[in-house]
Amino acid sequence: MKLLVINGPNLNLLGLREPELYGQADYAALERLVRATCAQEGIEVTLFQSNHEGAIVDAIQAAYGSADGIVINPAAYTHTSIAILDALKAVALPAVEVHVSDVARREAFRQVSYAGMACVKTISGAGIDGYRQAIVWLKGYLGE
Ligand code: DQA
Repeated sequence: MKLLVINGPNLNLLGLREPELYGQADYAALERLVRATCAQEGIEVTLFQSNHEGAIVDAIQAAYGSADGIVINPAAYTHTSIAILDALKAVALPAVEVHVSDVARREAFRQVSYAGMACVKTISGAGIDGYRQAIVWLKGYLGE
């Protein structure tokens, strides 16, 4: 099983950015957790982070034919990007949406998730452990 884990804008600043919302763990810790989880589950993983919407669309498109599933935290693009929604729908790979913070308890403008409309599951508010949960869940969903 091959998995693509995508992180959107400002998630490279985890640990530094608003730690009361996003926690103390930095992006390197997130990457270690994802790699350790995938190694344990026998999953081949590619991690991708970008602050640019088009680069995220390109990464989703490149997953077609090379990945079995996607874990994605589109960050702020969650609430704005129809392009990311359309890319997820285009490749039609099972995708799980992850949010470090509990977006349901935050501002009104965060209550719409375009990307989530193309995802089979959302995990929100579990901190970086949400990525581990998403990977394990997706493995079960894919029956692997
Ligand atoms: C986020 C939530 C988004 O609303 C926000 O714009 C982010 C991070 C999260 O992981 O909690 O950048 O996706």
